[in-house]
This record gives sequence, C-alpha cells and structure tokens, in this order.
Amino acid sequence: MAVHSIQLDALPASREQARVWCAQLEDGGILYFPQTPAPIPAEDLDFLLNQRQSGGAIHKNIAYKPDRDRLSGWDGKSMSTAEVDRLRDIMRRYSAGVNAFLEEFLAPYQRRWRLDYASYRPIEEEGRDLPLRRRNDLLHTDAFPTRPTRGARILRFFHNIHPTRTRDWVVGEPFRRVVNEFAPAKLALPRSRTGAGRAAMRVARVTGLASLVSQWRRTPYDEFMMQLHNAMKEDAGFQSTCAKVFVEFAPGSSWMVYTETVPHAVLSGQYALEQTFLVDPAAMVTPDSAPVAVLERLAGARLT
Ligand code: SIN
Ligand code: FE
Repeated sequence: MAVHSIQLDALPASREQARVWCAQLEDGGILYFPQTPAPIPAEDLDFLLNQRQSGGAIHKNIAYKPDRDRLSGWDGKSMSTAEVDRLRDIMRRYSAGVNAFLEEFLAPYQRRWRLDYASYRPIEEEGRDLPLRRRNDLLHTDAFPTRPTRGARILRFFHNIHPTRTRDWVVGEPFRRVVNEFAPAKLALPRSRTGAGRAAMRVARVTGLASLVSQWRRTPYDEFMMQLHNAMKEDAGFQSTCAKVFVEFAPGSSWMVYTETVPHAVLSGQYALEQTFLVDPAAMVTPDSAPVAVLERLAGARLT
C-alpha cells in the first residue's frame, strides 16, 4: 500500500500527471494532500469545531445528501433550527467545493460519477462503542447495506479538520490478496444472478416498478462486497495477523482512496469531513483493476 503525497504547487497538473494519479488510486494507493486542496472558510470551521462546547450537541455522524439538499443524523434535542440550517449550508458548500476540485483533479474520469453523501464526523473514534459490523476500528472494505452500488466504485475524499490532532488509520493489503484470502475458502465467490432474481426483475418490469427495484436490489457483486465487509470484521484471526500499515493524517490535510477495495480502519481522531463519489468502473484509467472486473474474472460470470 502506497501513500502518494501531493503538494498544492503541483496543481493544476498535466494530463499525463492526472492519469498517473488516477492509476495510483486504482492500484490501491492513497492520494494524500498535507494541506487540503478544498479548504473551507474559517467561520465554517469555527462552527464545526465549536459544536463540542455546546454540551456535545452532535452525537452521531451527520450525513448530507446533495441531491436532495438534506441533512440527517443531527440531534434535534440540542441543536436549534438555526444551527441545523447553518450546518446544512456548511455541508452544501463543502460538498460543492470537493466536487469542483475533483472535476479538475480527476479530469481523466470526465465526471463519470454520482455525487453521493457527504458526512461530518465529530466524534472521537478511539473507544467508540458500536456493534461489530458497524465498527470502523476493524479493517474492512466498504459496502453500503441499503444502497448497493451495482459495480460503481466508492471513492472517498476526507478532510481532517481537527486543529491539532492527527487522524490515525490502519491500511491493509491489496484487494486481490484479500479476496484470495477469503474466497473461496471462507466465502463463496459470487455467481451470476439466479433464475429467481431474474424472474423478480421480470415481474418488476411488468408492474412498472423496475427502476425502483433495481435501485435497492443487490446484484451478485453487491452481495459479495457486503459479505466481504462482514467477513473481514468478524475474522479475529485476519484482524490480528494480516499485514498492516499505520498512516497518520495531519491536521488540515486531505486524502482520497477507493474504500471499497482498500482495507482500512480508523483508530483515533476527531472532527473530519468526508465526501463520497460513486465512480463508473468503465471510466477507470485501468478498468481491469476495478473490483467488478477482478471478481468477474475470478467468477467467470457477469455480476451486475
Ligand atoms: C471508515 O470509512 O471506515 C472510517 C474512516 C474515517 O472516518 O476516518
Ligand atoms: Fe470504511
């Protein structure tokens, strides 16, 4: 696993350099900006960091949904309507700012992505008490239980807004190696859609519900990625013996990584912003490296 450090004076980059960065991401690398390329206004930062002084007003990760301009996860008991509105404004600006930066920085992808949720993570990660499958301090690859990506890649852009402390991660081995460790010995390789699945889609098509059904329905690809996420977290042997690299992200830094393929865990840190992109695997500079391509080769079948 490699961390590629990028200084702001390297931007804007040449077309060749932009392709190299995309290829590094696709190869399981982390692109690290010691100084964030998508800074947020000082007054927004103050507001986010001062939430802690109002008696721990915010308890959970807060999600912002750009397509609906909606905020969720805030604590209605301790935040006023005006504060919630302010937070939504801040998240809207953050989301748009990251998107605008990546439109240029990831020019080889030609915007072939969906802007997914953004999140504000105000809670100390060390010692969080969460159910096993929701723990983020265990190495895992990301998969969304209720929102299958159907082959789209999960690219996440983070910003450590803590004024003084690093955000500390552990990163694991390349996707191919992890898949080999789990499948087929501990986890069945995915298989193409079953007859029952195809029949359900036919019914949905006839009843006009096809687009709704296919939005939430997991493909064999999604099913495997969800099981892999769970299997990694549930495997104490894997957690203790697998190869790991410790990475510290400095205050004020940003980084981006394909989290559905790079095993990661956060050990400590507080106050981060994050924006997720669902990237078309066909837009890759190295399309063969996309997880859907890797798994389809192993399974010998179409999986989405
Ligand atoms: C995760 O995606 O598992 C958590 C990463 C973080 O919040 O730093
Ligand atoms: Fe994760």
